[in-house]
This record gives sequence, structure tokens and C-alpha cells, in this order.
Amino acid sequence: MTDLLGNMKRTHHCCELSAADIGREVVLMGWAAHRRDHGGVIFVDLRDREGITQIVFNPEISREVHAKAQDIRSEYVLGVKGKVIARPGDMVNPNMKTGAIEVIISELRIFSRARTPIFQIEDRTEASETVRLQYRYLDLRRSQLKNNLIARHKATLAVRNYLDTRGFIDIETPFLTKSTPEGARDYLVPSRVNPGNFFALPQSPQLFKQLLMIAGFDRYYQIVKCFRDEDLRADRQPEFTQIDMELSFVTEEEIMEIAEGMIVTIFKKVLDMDLVTPFPRMTYDDAMARFGIDRPDIRFGLELCDVSDIVKDTGFKVFANAVYGGLVKAVNAKGCSAFTRKQIDELTEFAAIYKAKGLAWIRIKEDEWQSPIAKFFTDGEKEALKQRLNLEIGDIVFFVADTAKVTNEALGQLRNELARRLNLISDNTFSFTWVTHFPLVEYDDTEKRYQALHHPFTSPLEEDIEKMETDPLSVKSRAYDLVLNGIEIGGGSIRIHSTELQSKVFNCLGINETEANEKFGFLLNALASGAPPHGGIAFGLDRLIMLLMKEDSIRNVIAFPKTQKASCPMTEAPSKASSAQLMELGIKVSVAE
Ligand code: AMO
Ligand code: AMP
Repeated sequence: MTDLLGNMKRTHHCCELSAADIGREVVLMGWAAHRRDHGGVIFVDLRDREGITQIVFNPEISREVHAKAQDIRSEYVLGVKGKVIARPGDMVNPNMKTGAIEVIISELRIFSRARTPIFQIEDRTEASETVRLQYRYLDLRRSQLKNNLIARHKATLAVRNYLDTRGFIDIETPFLTKSTPEGARDYLVPSRVNPGNFFALPQSPQLFKQLLMIAGFDRYYQIVKCFRDEDLRADRQPEFTQIDMELSFVTEEEIMEIAEGMIVTIFKKVLDMDLVTPFPRMTYDDAMARFGIDRPDIRFGLELCDVSDIVKDTGFKVFANAVYGGLVKAVNAKGCSAFTRKQIDELTEFAAIYKAKGLAWIRIKEDEWQSPIAKFFTDGEKEALKQRLNLEIGDIVFFVADTAKVTNEALGQLRNELARRLNLISDNTFSFTWVTHFPLVEYDDTEKRYQALHHPFTSPLEEDIEKMETDPLSVKSRAYDLVLNGIEIGGGSIRIHSTELQSKVFNCLGINETEANEKFGFLLNALASGAPPHGGIAFGLDRLIMLLMKEDSIRNVIAFPKTQKASCPMTEAPSKASSAQLMELGIKVSVAE
């Protein structure tokens, strides 16, 4: 029987050899990254998962092997046998792990030829993302993506070991299931054996993990795919991975401590970095007041300031009117009065994305306030603004006046944009913060009803339960999010464990008894069968790795991600189903071709 590998057995990976191996006979296998022909001597950088080793074909060693090596092109797959030698002094590359040696080859086997790659496999590539996604297997040969996936593996391994030591059991939950509301649309899967019926792919294992607590498993975790049909962004994918956990007989404090321990372990194992715990905490109300946003980036200052009370009677009617039913807030960009009109116009356009109707500004000059609106303020108002906003010569301050929602969102996003433009964000900082005491519900203007801010199984604060019927918007929940550098990386809550309270919350959300039974009857039954107090949290693994590896898109930490349009250029999914398949499922497609 001929041996596929030509009787070669790999002895080392392409990162392992160093000066200590000089004189050794070795066998390496991998891809030809580069081939250079130097006056008869051929050099090839051989690449495998672990690294690169320079191999050399010299006609003086073997005329036959050297001749064969002339065939080698980029991305050919090779097996080589040879001897480790020291590189001549001027060819030593101190930046490479294997830079002191090369392997002089006596045997060569070409396992596979490769067509000229559509783009060069290099650390920095000019290829468009669409092309890279279409040829993802080539893109994954680049060290950037490869290192991200290795980091991801290290992180999940660390998570599994850590959670095991903390008493968690890994249990799988179904993908073909019923809708679990997490605020997105469901992906539906038709059931052939139950024509006209559909499964929903889980937006999260939320209900199953609660059922596992009711079943008595005490501590559950799963590293699990979740599916959400929502508009995609750099930190959102239609299928993404959660580190999901649930615990019985615990408080918020214990869950946060365990979660912090997990994050600390991941940072240690992947980056060898020591994080300081406990992470800072702030309430939702505090986050909104100071940063306008429930996922504040606390790597920089530029905090927002409410000036509604100061401008409530001002001559600038846009401000005065906004105070009734809304808010006027400001951010002082200290020392940045040099912003040009053009830049201010750009910032105004930026704020408009978040529905701000304008962006008022004041430049603090030595002898005057330069601003289209300064003329409206009385001396008293000016003095009060100066004190409140700590205005000094050289500052420029921006204002938004609108409903609380628009003012906070627009100015909160403007704060991030100012920090980017002013280079206030340090790339090497990891700033965590917990955000706690979220409102239980928010009002959905389009649907004209209350909606759960997290999900409908989140427990309200004990002392707020009585306000649920009279003033739902003021009820706070036992939910918490973990935010890293302005991105929500995890969220969870203490759950409702009594049927009565669960029904009360459904009621508040406008879900009547019939609908509740239809959608969540199994949960209500389970809650009536002996439910322990329980709570949990889920982390977005992709987002966490993205931040850890300083990537700006989660697509770069997922082996086979989808595009912004939720499709895969490589497999061309999604695609049409055949008429036979559709007939079997009893489905008629009415979308225009
Ligand atoms: P939540 O909906 O907050 O909570 O999701 C938890 C975390 O998952 C990440 N995430 C995403 N990552 C990538 N793409 C997406 N489309 C996406 N959506 C969410 C975020 C988020 O913090 N069942 C609850 C958890 C619980 O209450 O225990 C849940 O799913 O990082
Ligand atoms: P106007 O009176 O429309 O010319 O606006 C004067 C200044 O106030 C301009 O700089 C506008 O951008 C700004 N402005 C208008 N509406 C608002 C608003 N709702 N919030 C903040 N600034 C505004």
C-alpha cells in the first residue's frame, strides 16, 4: 500500500525549530507561503497552523529535489524532510520565532497543487470583505483570523474549566423549539410532519435554563448558538454564541461575583492580563444621566449635564419648550473651541442620525461667548451654565433639547463621536462596568403597549411590585448588564419564580391569560411545580473575543460569519427551496422573483 504521506511522518510544527535544533533531521508539512529563487537556491516559507519555517532547496544537496521545487507555487501543500542549519548571519530574522534557522531539504513531496489564490495570504490584505467571505478558507489562513479563532478556543476552554470548578453542569437545550422572546424576530423552521406548523430557532435558551432550575440542576451552563433575525451591525450576527448560565438559590451579588471570576480567568488565559475586581457598578438611571446611554464607555470623561432647570424660562424657545416633557442636556468638549464650522456641521449631522432636531453650541472665547444662541441668555442664566458646565476659555459646549429619549440617545452618541474625533480613547484599556436597576418595562410607541426591557421573565424589585399596576414605568427590575468599552457583553437577571408574579408581569405587558397559556403555558405549569429562586446571565462570546482581540467587527472572530445582509457569499445561503421541498412542507412562496 502506498503511503499518502510518502512515508513521511511530521516531526515538528513550523514554529518549533530554533538554534537548539541545528543538525537535526526533521519532517515538516504545510503550505508554501512564499517562494523566492535566488540564483539557483530556492527559498520557501512553509506555513502551518503554528507558524512559519524557511526551507531551502539547494541543487548542491539534491539536483532532483531542487528541480521539483521549481514547480512550487503559492499555497501548494508540501511535505519536506531536511536538516536544520543556522542561517547565515546577515539572514537571521530576529522578528521571527524560527528566524535563526532554516531547513535544507533533501526530500520533497507535493501533496496538492493550488490555483493562484484570489488574494495573497498576508497579515494585511487589500481584498474586500465580500471576496474574503467568499473564499473564507483562504482568509482563515491569515494569521489575524487564525489567531482570533485560537484565542476563542482558549477562552471557551477556560470558561469550561472555570465553570466546572464553580459547580456548573453543561446541558444542551433544543434548537427546534418555540419562540423565546428576546426582542428580535424569530427564525422559523417548517415542520414537514406537522404541516403548517413551525419551530422557532431559539433567540436564547432562556426558558429551558429556567426549566432546568425547576428540574433541580442547581447550576447550568452552555456555550450555545442563538438565532435572532434582526438588523445587523458590526457587533451583531444572526447566529451568535452565548456563554449562558443559570443558578438556583442565589442573589445578584453571587452571580456577578461568579461572572467576574469567569471574565478574569478568560483575560488571564488568553491575554495573560490581570483584571481588577470587583468591576465598578452604576444604576441605569445614573448611566442615562451621566452618559445618555445604558452601555456607557467609561474610558473617557465628557459626561453629560442636565441644564433643563437653568434654561426652563430662557428666551431661546427651543430650549424652554423642550423642558416641558423633555430634557435639555449639554456636553462640554474641554479646550476644543478650535472646532471649525464645517466640523460643527458634521457633528450636527451626526446628532441628526439619532433624531436630534439641531445641535446648539457655544464657544467660550476670552471676551465673549460665540454662539448662535448666546444672545438669548440672561447674565444669570450664563453664570448658572458656566458653573454647572465648568465653562472655561477655550471650551466648546454642545446642547440637545428634545424628549428625554432623543436628547439622551443623540448626546450620548455624540459623546462617543467626540471622544473618537479627539482621540480620547485608549486602545489598551479594558473598562468594565455593571449597569443595574434597569426599568422593568418601556413604552412601545408603535405598538402602544409596555414591553419588557430585558425579557418578560425578569423579576421586578420586591419594593416596586405594588407600583406595577399604577406606574409601570417607574418599576425597576433585578436585571444587570456587563458593559466593556461601551459594548454590552452580557446581561441577565434574577427571575420570577412564582406563577402569581409571572402572571402579573404578563398582565402588565398586555399579554392576556389565553395568550400567556398559549405561548408560555409550560413555563407557568413548571413554576407551579416547585420552582427555586433562581437567576442567571448570558455573555456574547463573539463580542467578548472581538474586544479581547481589539477587532472592530465580530465577523473577524467567527469562522464562517454572515454578511450585513445575513447571507453567506461562500455557500450562497440562504437560497431557494425546490418546489418538491416546498410542496412536501405545504408551503407556497409568494415573494416576487
Ligand atoms: P441578551 O439578549 O442580553 O440576554 O443576550 C446576551 C448577550 O448576547 C450578546 N448578543 C449578541 N451578540 C451578537 N449578535 C447578536 N445578534 C446578539 N444579541 C445579543 C450580547 C448580549 O449581552 N436570555 C438572556 C440572558 C439572561 O437573562 O440570562 C439573553 O439572551 O453580548
Ligand atoms: P435655529 O433657531 O433653528 O437657527 O437654531 C439655532 C441653533 O440651535 C442651531 O445651532 C441649531 O442647530 C440649534 N438647535 C435647533 N433645535 C435644537 C434642538 N432641538 N436641540 C439643540 N439645538 C437645537
